[in-house]
Amino acid sequence: MLPSFPADPVELGNRVLAALSRLALRQFASRPDPSATPEAIPTPLTAFFGRERDIESLTELLRQKARFVTVRTPGGYGKTRLVLETVRRLGDSSRTIAFVDLAEAQTVIELATCVATTMGLNLDRLSQEAPVQLVARVLQGMSGVLILDNFEQLPTEARQTVEDWANRASGVQFLITSRVALARTAERVLDLGTFPVPEPGDATDPKKVAANPALQLFADRVRAFRADFTLTAEAARSAIAICRRVECQPLLIEIMASQLRSRSLSTVVEDLEDKAWLESIESAQSSFGIDR
Ligand SMILES: Nc1ncnc2c1ncn2[C@@H]1O[C@H](COP(=O)(O)OP(=O)(O)O)[C@@H](O)[C@H]1O
Ligand SMILES: [Mg+2]
Repeated sequence: MLPSFPADPVELGNRVLAALSRLALRQFASRPDPSATPEAIPTPLTAFFGRERDIESLTELLRQKARFVTVRTPGGYGKTRLVLETVRRLGDSSRTIAFVDLAEAQTVIELATCVATTMGLNLDRLSQEAPVQLVARVLQGMSGVLILDNFEQLPTEARQTVEDWANRASGVQFLITSRVALARTAERVLDLGTFPVPEPGDATDPKKVAANPALQLFADRVRAFRADFTLTAEAARSAIAICRRVECQPLLIEIMASQLRSRSLSTVVEDLEDKAWLESIESAQSSFGIDR
């Protein structure tokens, strides 16, 4: 049936205008914002240590074009640092690398909004399209790695959303950090452990001390405020005791190093026996705002 046209020229004009603006909106919405540029990925200010094997495994997964990779560990073990260091070493400037911090995202809409914002999309200009669909469409045209950092607190539907995006975006590799795996069939999981634990006897072997990332991390973070700090055999013995006590978890090593601002190395070692003190240090993770 042919559409009926109103006899009133004003009404006809309004209808034509409305149709034209619908068409314009659709045209506009089918094209991602051409000025969109993803935010630069963060470059941590502190030195990076160890993790050679994990970087190799992750690089290999990315080279094999794995589409859905999750780096899994409890908070403070170094997931974020590992993915940032891995993509930095990839040095692939031909593909987009986008890093989305999801720490504050609690819902699927917030997930999509965080991704869209990081991709540099102007949500106001494209507000006629739901963020989840907008992101799906933009990712379809992308070639690169999308890092979704801090996924664990998002609801189960968010996992499905990411899988739907991945299904539609064959050029995008999703690299997720989370305390729990997303439990998707296509997911490849990399479990990140703590740093290798040094033996007490390693203190007198400078090569072993220099090769241990936990000890190197500890010394580096102390040097931030005590520039002449070196791992002599005696200091290494204390550093080993400290690192062993916190099971070589990177964040806890940093927190222990920061204790040397106000205490001597020997006092910190003595205090390792003090359970209440250690517990207060561990709970300081959240006050550092880095219980991730
Ligand atoms: N390989 C590493 N080299 C240097 N510092 C590290 C390393 N891994 C973790 N850290 C430090 O430990 C802390 C926790 O690491 P982070 O990557 O934030 O852990 P997660 O993302 O698992 O919570 C950070 O301050 C980070 O800089
Ligand atoms: Mg993190």
